[in-house]
Amino acid sequence: MVLLGPPGCGKGTQAEFLEGQFGLVHLSTGDLLRDALARGTAAGIQAKEFMAKGLLVPDSIVLEIVSESIKSSIRGGFILDGFPRNLNQAKALDALLAENNLALTHVVLLEVPAQVLKKRICGRLVHPASGRSYHTGFCPPRIPNRDDVTGEELVRRPDDTEEALEKRLGVYESQTRPLIEHYSLTSQAKKSKLRLVRIDASLGPQEVSKRLAAALSPSSQ
Ligand code: AP5
Ligand code: MG
Repeated sequence: MVLLGPPGCGKGTQAEFLEGQFGLVHLSTGDLLRDALARGTAAGIQAKEFMAKGLLVPDSIVLEIVSESIKSSIRGGFILDGFPRNLNQAKALDALLAENNLALTHVVLLEVPAQVLKKRICGRLVHPASGRSYHTGFCPPRIPNRDDVTGEELVRRPDDTEEALEKRLGVYESQTRPLIEHYSLTSQAKKSKLRLVRIDASLGPQEVSKRLAAALSPSSQ
């Protein structure tokens, strides 16, 4: 499954819900890149500048990380959060899945108006080790500034500034939004097993999860 949507639409939040609900493995390219940077790998160091500026990290770096992760989680289903982000990555994903006898079953589009995204991103706190997201107002941690599971300290993401967010939204519009049309056409092709699911993600997190679970349940297929 692919989770598609602009920065702050709730990809990470809903992926965590889907992981618990359906036992899927959550692969977030943003989290994988941040982890590579924290470990000081060559890929992480190369990615740093691009991420800080809100630009896409070059495809070659992202594809290497994704292909390693897909190969290691091949047994069960998985959720790709933040990948693909352009048409080139979408084509590379198709090739990678075909190589491993896998196919994409769902592309879930989380739709949120732009004015809501800024409020979400500017109040976000994250737990770096797990990628868990909180929000000072909308989804506060049980103990202020502490992760609910480990009790460890929460931090702000360096790219959660108004300036970087503007860039990230621009990149989403120009490079990622065309994927909606791409997957819409793919899902309409004869014999296609792919479903494009659109969810109103401007609602509260639990309501979004409820709608997502209903849309993915076998009875709605
Ligand atoms: P990435 O980490 O993927 O960032 P993003 O796409 O900008 O998305 P976010 O993680 O900011 O938001 P989200 O949709 O996960 O929302 P969340 O659930 O946290 O990528 C970062 C960077 O890495 C990119 O800019 C790029 O440089 C690089 N990169 C990553 N993938 C790449 C790729 N494939 N190719 C090239 N470069 C790549 O929620 C946000 C906030 O809102 C939280 O505070 C949360 O608590 C709150 N919230 C969530 N849902 C709700 C709700 N329903 N109501 C109210 N509040 C909510
Ligand atoms: Mg995220």
